[in-house]
Amino acid sequence: MRVSALRPNAATKLGGPLLHLSETGSTNDRARELALAGASHGSVVVAESQTAGRGRQGRNWVAPPGAALTLSAVLRLEPSELQQLPLSAALATCEACEAVCGVETQVKWPNDIWIGGLKTAGILIEARPQAGWAVLGIGLNVNTREHEFPEELRETATSLRVALGEEVSRERVLDALLERLAARVCDRSEAVLDDYRRRDALVGRSVRWKGGAGTAGGIDEQGNLVVFTESGYRVTLDAGEVHLE
Ligand code: BTN
Repeated sequence: MRVSALRPNAATKLGGPLLHLSETGSTNDRARELALAGASHGSVVVAESQTAGRGRQGRNWVAPPGAALTLSAVLRLEPSELQQLPLSAALATCEACEAVCGVETQVKWPNDIWIGGLKTAGILIEARPQAGWAVLGIGLNVNTREHEFPEELRETATSLRVALGEEVSRERVLDALLERLAARVCDRSEAVLDDYRRRDALVGRSVRWKGGAGTAGGIDEQGNLVVFTESGYRVTLDAGEVHLE
């Protein structure tokens, strides 16, 4: 993707303005600076390469330059929209991948995007609810090849290119992503919960987390993960990380 190839997506409210950088530390940090300086809803930062990409739970997020889509959007939203952002952003990312590549995607709670049980995209949301905004960061492995993933991720990560067996246009994925995000982040209908539940990769499966283990029972109305422990307790997890047994 040439740096000049990207234009604000005129058909939606997201991606205008769009700042396309060849390199930055973390697009989330750039977007946060923009938000604090008053950037409007839908401002987007895309980088060809990040030198300090951040993931959830304090992890790093790495991608070979030019292979993934690494972007962050400034979103100014109503409280209920901010609350459901982890779900709506995950759904939008699934829908964009499917629209462009025709691949089946699932969500691993709260918002990892899986193809065939392998992680294809991750989402990092940094919200300031009192100020009514959030930075939504998405790292989507579009054209990463198997050998380009760090060794410790090769068994658990994939890309659209690997899933499809051919190169994928990052411009088309970006376009679809901005369009689906614009629609989903403001969608206050029950469809968000229903559609998320249809894509839930964990429901009915044995999971473990820092505090215990059990069978995933889907998500509740607030988007928390429900787990039934072996001793019969119903536990709800509102944050953190779960792993499949
Ligand atoms: C995760 O799965 O742990 C979340 C990964 C989020 C990575 C994206 S890449 C664009 C944005 N900028 C960052 O520094 N992180 C997010």
